[in-house]
Amino acid sequence: MNTQEPIQWLIANWKMYGSLELLKTFMQAFKERFCSHPTVHLVFCPPAIYLQAFHEQLQSLPADMQAVLHLGAQTIANKLEGAFTGEISAPMFKELGVDYALIGHSERRNLFQEDVEQIASKVARAYDSGLIPILCVGETQKERETKQTEAVIEQQLGVLLSSVGSNPSLVAYEPVWAIGTGLVPTVPEIEAIHRLIRKVLGASANVFYGGSVNRSHASLLWQSPEVNGLLIGGASLKVDELLAIYEMAKTRKA
Ligand code: PGA
Repeated sequence: MNTQEPIQWLIANWKMYGSLELLKTFMQAFKERFCSHPTVHLVFCPPAIYLQAFHEQLQSLPADMQAVLHLGAQTIANKLEGAFTGEISAPMFKELGVDYALIGHSERRNLFQEDVEQIASKVARAYDSGLIPILCVGETQKERETKQTEAVIEQQLGVLLSSVGSNPSLVAYEPVWAIGTGLVPTVPEIEAIHRLIRKVLGASANVFYGGSVNRSHASLLWQSPEVNGLLIGGASLKVDELLAIYEMAKTRKA
C-alpha cells in the first residue's frame, strides 16, 4: 500500500433511529460482508445510548477492520462537567472509545437552537478531550435563494478558526435543504463550496459532503477529487447502502 494515499471518510449518522435489535442485525450482516481497506475509514455515529454496545461489537472484529472503524458522538456538551441534566461531556464519550464528534449539525442548530458561541465551545471541548470534531456547515434554502451561501459558510467556519486556529480540520458541507429531502446540489456546486472551505481553513482541511447521500449519488460524488468523504444519514442505517458506498470509495480516483 502507498502510505501517502489520502484517507477517504464515511460518516454514518444514525440520528435518533435504531434499536438494540437493529444494531444486532446490522452488525451481523456488516461483519459477514465488510471488507476493509486501509485508506477508507468509517465513523459510526449511533445514538449515544448505543455507543457502548457498538464499541463491544467493533472490538470483536479483526485488527485490520478495527483500524478503519471508529465511533463518533452526534453532539457533545459544551462543558466538561457540572449540573447539566441530560448532557454528555466529551471526556465521557472518550471513555467509551469514541474518537470523533459531529458538531454544529443543522438539526442541532435549528431544532435545539445551538448558536455560534455554543458551537465554538463544543469544538474547543472536543479538542480539550482528545475528540476530533467534525464541524457541519451549510446554508438553508432561503439563504441559497438569496445568494448568501458563501457568506454563511464563511461565518460558520469562523467558529472553527476562533476555537482552534489553523489546526487540521474535518468539515462536512451539508446544505440544510439537501438533508433528508432527496435533493443534492450539482457536483460543480459542491466543489465550489469545498474549495471555499479550503480557502478559509487551508489546503490540508478534509472536506466531506452530506445531504441525501445514497449509493447512486455517491458514485457521482466520489468522482470529484475535492470530496474527501461523505456524511450519510438515512442510507447509513441500511447495511447494503453503506457497504456499497464503502466499496465505491475503495476504487475511486483520488
Ligand atoms: P441524510 O442526512 O443523508 O438522511 O440526508 C444527512 C445528515 O443529516 O447528516
